[in-house]
Amino acid sequence: MPGKVILGAQWGDEGKGKFIDIFAGEADLVVRSQGGNNAGHTVVVNGETYKLQLIPSGILYKDCVNIIGPGVVVDPRAILKEIDGLAAKGVSADKLFIDARCHCILPWHLELDALSEKARGGDDIGTTKKGIGPTYMDKAERIGVRMHDFVGGRFEEAMREACARKNKVITGVYGGDPVDIEAVLAEYRGYAERLRSHVRDTTVMTYEAVKSGKNVLFEGAQGTLLDLDMGTYPYVTSSHPVSGGCCIGSGVGPTAITEIMGICKSYTTRVGKGPFPTELFDETGDYIRKAGGEFGTVTGRPRRTGWFDAVIARYAVRVNGLTELVINKIDPLCGLPKLKVCVAYDFKGERLTEFPADFADLEHCKPVYEEFDGFTEDITGCRSFDELPVSVQDYIRELERICGCRVSMLGVGPARDQVIAIR
Ligand code: GDP
Ligand code: IMO
Ligand code: MG
Repeated sequence: MPGKVILGAQWGDEGKGKFIDIFAGEADLVVRSQGGNNAGHTVVVNGETYKLQLIPSGILYKDCVNIIGPGVVVDPRAILKEIDGLAAKGVSADKLFIDARCHCILPWHLELDALSEKARGGDDIGTTKKGIGPTYMDKAERIGVRMHDFVGGRFEEAMREACARKNKVITGVYGGDPVDIEAVLAEYRGYAERLRSHVRDTTVMTYEAVKSGKNVLFEGAQGTLLDLDMGTYPYVTSSHPVSGGCCIGSGVGPTAITEIMGICKSYTTRVGKGPFPTELFDETGDYIRKAGGEFGTVTGRPRRTGWFDAVIARYAVRVNGLTELVINKIDPLCGLPKLKVCVAYDFKGERLTEFPADFADLEHCKPVYEEFDGFTEDITGCRSFDELPVSVQDYIRELERICGCRVSMLGVGPARDQVIAIR
C-alpha cells in the first residue's frame, strides 16, 4: 500500500468510510487532509454502526495512528463530542493527532453559514451548515484562528479579535445578532484545554512514516464533483477533495502517493443543490433511495438519486489520476429489470463525452444511456466475482470498459466484509 489515497469519485457518500476502514486494518497511519465535520463516514463492524465526521476512519484499530492534517477545518466542540461518543463505545482517541495549522470552526462561522444561505434565498447551496465555507473564507483572507492559537497562549486574544471582526459582518451585512464573546470564551476555554495534548506538527509524523516505508492511508472526504475548482461550482464545498488536495492538506509531496482508489456507487446520489444530469424523479429514483438507504449521514436529508454516470466517472479517473475504481453499493439495484448507464451527454444536439466546465451547460445536458440486464438474486452474501449473477458480472465489465479504469473492488452490503476483491 505505502501511500494509498481513497477518495470519492462522485458527489460524496460513495461509501468511502467502509473502504477506508477495510484498508486501515493494514495501515500504520490514516490521514484526513480536507473538509471538516460536513463529512459523514459510516463504518459498520460486528453489527455496530459508527458515524465518523472529523475523526479518521482508522480510529477503530487500536494500533493505527490517526491524523487530522493541516488542510482540515476543525470544530473544537464537534470533535470533542465525537471523541466522547467513541469513548462511550470503548474506542480510544489516544492516537488521534490534530495539526497545529488547522483552522478552527467557531460559533460565528456556524452563524455566518446559516445567514449567508438564508440571504441567497432560493439560490442557496444547500450546505451542511457546519460553518465549513465561512472558515475556509477566513483562512483565505488570512484572518482565521488556527489550532496553535486556540490551544496556545494567544487563545483569548485571537478569539476576541476574530469575533469582533465577524460580529461586524453578522450585524452590519446580515442584520443578525452579535455572538457573545464572553459566553464563547467561557465555553471554549475548556475545549482548548482538552484538545491541547492532541495538537502537534503532524506533517513531520506523516513524512517520517512515508520515508520509512510505512503504510499511509489518505482518507478523502466529500467527492470529486464537490471540489472547489473541479466540481459543479458554485454548488460545491470549499475544499479540495481531489487527489491533489490530499498532498496540500496533509503537508507531504506527491511522491508520497503510490495508489489512488476512487469510490463510486453503482448509481449516483447527491445532497444539496446543483445540476445532476442522470437524476431520477420517478419511482425508480424512489426505489434506489429506499433500497440504498440514501438519507444523509450528517443532516438526514433524503439524497437525490439517479443512474450511474460514466461521464462523471471518466472525469474522476482523469482529474484524480485514479489507479483503480471501486463500484460500491451494487446490492440496492437488485430487482430493477434494466440498469442504465449514462455514456455521454446530448448538449443541444451535440454529443459530449467530457464533463463540461460550466455548470449552466450541464443543466442542458441530457444523458445518453446504454442499457444492461438487471438482476433479482440476493448478492449480499457473494464474496467472489464468480459467485455474482452473470448479468452483474457483465455490468461490471462494461463499466470498467466505459470508464477506462480497472475495477478492483465491489461492494455488496454495508458491513466490513461485504466486499469483493477482483484480481
Ligand atoms: P461516505 O461518506 O462515502 O463514507 O459514505 P456514507 O457513510 O455517507 O454513505 C454510505 C452509506 O451506504 C452508509 O450508510 C453505509 O453503511 C452504506 N453502505 C456502504 N457500502 C454499502 C454497500 O455496498 N451496500 C449497501 N447496501 N450499503 C452500503
Ligand atoms: P462525505 O465525506 C455529500 C455537500 C453539501 C452541499 C455542499 C456544500 O460524507 O462524502 P458544505 O457544508 O461543505 O459547505 O456544503 O457539499 N457536502 C457533501 N455531500 N457528502 C459529503 O461528505 C458532503 N460534504 C459536503 O450537501 O451540497
Ligand atoms: Mg457521507
